[in-house]
Amino acid sequence: MASLCCYLFILVLGFLSNSQFLVAELDDQIIMSSIREDLQVLGWSSNISDYCSWKGVRCGLNHSMVEALDLSGHSLRGNLTVISQLKALKWLDLSFNDFHGKIPSSFANLFELEFLDLSLNKFDGSIPPELGGLKNLKSLNLSNNLLVGEIPDELQGLENLRDFQVSSNRLNGSIPMWVGNFTHLRVFTAYENAFDGVIPDNLGLVSELQVLNLHTNKLEGPIPRSVFASGKLEILVLTQNRLNGNLPEEIGNCKSLTSVRIGNNDLVGVVPPAIGNVSSLAYFEVNNNHLSGDITSRISLCSNLTLLNLASNGFTGTIPSELGELMNLQELILSGNNLYGDIPRSMLKCKNLNKLDLSNNRFNGTIPSDICNVSRLQYLLLEQNSIKGEIPNEIGKCTKLLDLRLGSNYLTGSIPSEIGRIKNLQIALNLSFNHLNGPVPPELGKLDKLVSLDLSNNHLSGDIPSELKGMLSLIEVNFSNNLLTGSIPFFVPFQKSANSSFLGNDGLCGAPLSISCKNSIGSYNQDYHHKVSYKIILAVIGSGLAVFVSVTIVVLLFVMKEKQEKTAKSSGTADDATVDDQPIIISGNVFDDNLRQEIDLDAVVKATLKDSNKLIFGTFSTVYKAVMPSGMIISVKRLKSMDKTIIHHQSKMIRELERLGKLSHANLLQLIGYVIYEDVALLLHHYLPNGTLAQLLHESTKQPEYQPDWPTRFSIAIGAAEGLAFLHHVAIIHLDISSSNVLLDANFKPLVGEVEISKLLDPSRGTASISAVAGSFGYIPPEYAYTMQVTAPGNVYSYGVILLEILTTRLPVDEEFGEGVDLVKWVHGASSRGETPEQILDSQLSTVSFGWRKEMLAALKIALLCTDSIPAKRPKMKVVVEMLMEIKQN
Ligand SMILES: *[C@@H]1O[C@H](CO)[C@@H](O)[C@H](O)[C@H]1NC(C)=O
Ligand SMILES: *[C@@H]1O[C@H](CO)[C@@H](O)[C@H](O)[C@H]1NC(C)=O
Ligand SMILES: *[C@@H]1O[C@H](CO)[C@@H](O)[C@H](O)[C@H]1NC(C)=O
Ligand SMILES: *[C@@H]1O[C@H](CO)[C@@H](O)[C@H](O)[C@H]1NC(C)=O
Ligand SMILES: *[C@@H]1O[C@H](CO)[C@@H](O)[C@H](O)[C@H]1NC(C)=O
Ligand SMILES: *[C@@H]1O[C@H](CO)[C@@H](O)[C@H](O)[C@H]1NC(C)=O
Ligand SMILES: *[C@@H]1O[C@H](CO)[C@@H](O)[C@H](O)[C@H]1NC(C)=O
Ligand SMILES: *[C@@H]1O[C@H](CO)[C@@H](O)[C@H](O)[C@H]1NC(C)=O
Ligand SMILES: *[C@@H]1O[C@H](CO)[C@@H](O)[C@H](O)[C@H]1NC(C)=O
Repeated sequence: MASLCCYLFILVLGFLSNSQFLVAELDDQIIMSSIREDLQVLGWSSNISDYCSWKGVRCGLNHSMVEALDLSGHSLRGNLTVISQLKALKWLDLSFNDFHGKIPSSFANLFELEFLDLSLNKFDGSIPPELGGLKNLKSLNLSNNLLVGEIPDELQGLENLRDFQVSSNRLNGSIPMWVGNFTHLRVFTAYENAFDGVIPDNLGLVSELQVLNLHTNKLEGPIPRSVFASGKLEILVLTQNRLNGNLPEEIGNCKSLTSVRIGNNDLVGVVPPAIGNVSSLAYFEVNNNHLSGDITSRISLCSNLTLLNLASNGFTGTIPSELGELMNLQELILSGNNLYGDIPRSMLKCKNLNKLDLSNNRFNGTIPSDICNVSRLQYLLLEQNSIKGEIPNEIGKCTKLLDLRLGSNYLTGSIPSEIGRIKNLQIALNLSFNHLNGPVPPELGKLDKLVSLDLSNNHLSGDIPSELKGMLSLIEVNFSNNLLTGSIPFFVPFQKSANSSFLGNDGLCGAPLSISCKNSIGSYNQDYHHKVSYKIILAVIGSGLAVFVSVTIVVLLFVMKEKQEKTAKSSGTADDATVDDQPIIISGNVFDDNLRQEIDLDAVVKATLKDSNKLIFGTFSTVYKAVMPSGMIISVKRLKSMDKTIIHHQSKMIRELERLGKLSHANLLQLIGYVIYEDVALLLHHYLPNGTLAQLLHESTKQPEYQPDWPTRFSIAIGAAEGLAFLHHVAIIHLDISSSNVLLDANFKPLVGEVEISKLLDPSRGTASISAVAGSFGYIPPEYAYTMQVTAPGNVYSYGVILLEILTTRLPVDEEFGEGVDLVKWVHGASSRGETPEQILDSQLSTVSFGWRKEMLAALKIALLCTDSIPAKRPKMKVVVEMLMEIKQN
């Protein structure tokens, strides 16, 4: 009886499960086929019955019901509702796609669900309260979407949650108290939202919290002791909130805490000595708070400490000598406190130290002569202290230094010539506001990567050595308020500086000062090489290539290999020309009959003789504004020439200019005429009062209301691409594509400029030394270092840089990106830094509307293609235009 009963039971069970099996199989097959159609998943075969072996799909043991669906990173979009019918689903990963609209509340039907990842999409609206029904959920990731509103209280039902991530949305309200009641919670991140209120003081009390990251919100109140209660905390990031109160002593409880970042808050009190208990601490960052007291020597017990940042607080006393025991320390940042005394000699034992920033304190010792025993030092920032004594000669052994700032101290003696040995010095050499005397060492001229040199406000005497012309990367310079004499060497970075960079030296003369020198005539021609080449070398070095390219610099306009004889007439007029005499026009033309009435060629020439008319000082040319007697304003580009090349090749050049006059496209800056006089060629264009794209993007940033919106930017991007595509179509390779060479008309229509240069310097025409022409800083394709050839794919790369500038509002080269990293590398490196594509875009634009953001992300993809390091992988300019148009139409 019992066995029969049992038999029947098994039979019934068998029948039930069997029928369920069949129904289930059918169900999931239909559902999967419908998902395949709705989302258009690429790579899923058309054999519907095979769905369990589709990529990203895992079925249960029965090989019928889908238990895991991983569609991460497929650029998918579409209606997700149907997924909620996969009843056996335990794992659903839809991250990193293009899904938008509301999160389907029907996901609440997935009762088996343990893992739900919707991060890195464009879901908007609020978090559906229904999700609170997913009792089995262990991991919920909603980060990097556009979610708004508060975290619904219904989620309190997710009592099995271990990982809870809602970072990078637009959520607000307070962090719910019930999060502290999740007993399994390990990871909680809610950074980059608008949460306010306090951090729940039960957070971490019942759970074994390991990661708590709430940075960039509006949280206030204290850091709750509870987060340290279990002692399991590993990462604590609370930067950029309004937290106040002390750093709790209980932090000493957390032996496995590796990262503490609590900077930019309103914390007070001392760093508790218990910090010494946190033996695995690697990053300790508490800058920009109101912490005070001595720096506890107990921190030296944290032997893995890599970064110690206590900047901009109220710490007092001296640096504890015990810090020298921190063998792994790489950055010690103590700037902006009230610390005094010496740099402890023990610190020189920190062999891994690469940044020592003690600036803006009251340090009153001397610079140790063996400071360079710290052989990895890259940043030595000691400015704004009371440091005495001399700069040790041994400083020359700090060969890795990128940035040396000793300004505003009481340093005496002379500038050691050994500084010239620090060949890596790039960012700045600042010795200003000290009591240094003696000469400026000529050896400084060897610092060919240095961008900023400030020796102002000392007692330096003698000439400015002409050897400083070797500082080929120099952009900023300041020699003011010293006792320097003699003529200022002719060197573009000097003459381009404001005269305030040289004022306060009674004995100095020459440009940019208005005091002229008695006997300095004749140096102009000799130094001309530098004038032309400086930007090019800067470009090659500055592009961050770790390749030493020896550039033979002779940028010649129309230089032919064979020497040609001078015509007596023209050489005579060229040599005798002075500013006072109106030069004789050799040739000139205005192509358009209507414009010919309005443009007076003599007035054009006259305008270029006046410095006050200068608009732009470019690589190959200077641009002037010229007002015609008719009232018309035109822009005049004066081409630089050497060796009388314009005279020698006059007729050829005139033919070329006449031909260029016929080259016409809506997005090219049209040549409307030209003038040749002496050894000068003037190219005439319409005057464009809206300036360049570079000015629009980078100079208007200070006034957000003038920031161009996305549609404006996008149409500029398309127009510039069309202009370049046209050039490639007529077989012209542009030699200097940059946002400074994209001009904007009154309606912000982009016009690609400097086209003539490309034509006149066309390499295929046998013009020599073309290899020196690299383009502008930050726009040079990486292959250029090897090939020294500007190519069509190289143009595409440079265009890609412009597109990145438009999308990010960042400069092509910026210190912010870090050493050797330019905009392109910074963008391509985003994923390895754990940043999303959204974090790359200018958030002022990408957060305005869903539509803008979508277009920007699509354009970003194109920019990434264009800036591929392999030239063959870059699309053609024509294809770039097509892809951009497609985005616009969708
Ligand atoms: C479709 O897939 C099933 C299951 O893997 C297989 O048995 C069948 O042969 C496939 N049919 C075709 C037409 O490939
Ligand atoms: C899978 O099959 C087993 C035995 O065949 C059955 O007990 C179980 O209920 C099935 N599971 C599902 C989800 O159908
Ligand atoms: C998605 O599809 C479901 C039916 O499968 C429908 O009810 C719902 O309205 C659709 N959602 C959207 C946003 O189209
Ligand atoms: C979302 O969070 C889960 C759990 O913390 C994690 O495993 C997953 O990698 C996250 N997703 C992304 C795209 O980072
Ligand atoms: C949260 O944001 C929503 C919409 O973005 C807004 O309506 C609501 O007032 C905000 N709530 C708080 C507490 O700020
Ligand atoms: C958290 O759990 C405690 C104890 O179980 C309970 O008293 C409290 O009400 C819960 N808090 C919330 C916000 O649910
Ligand atoms: C620091 O560690 C010691 C020994 O492990 C322990 O006795 C002490 O309570 C800890 N201090 C703190 C504040 O946790
Ligand atoms: C220090 O770091 C190393 C390497 O990451 C690790 O193996 C070691 O356990 C750490 N030491 C402490 C005390 O945590
Ligand atoms: C540095 O300043 C401290 C505090 O003002 C003072 O006690 C000390 O004597 C000074 N040291 C030197 C070397 O001047």
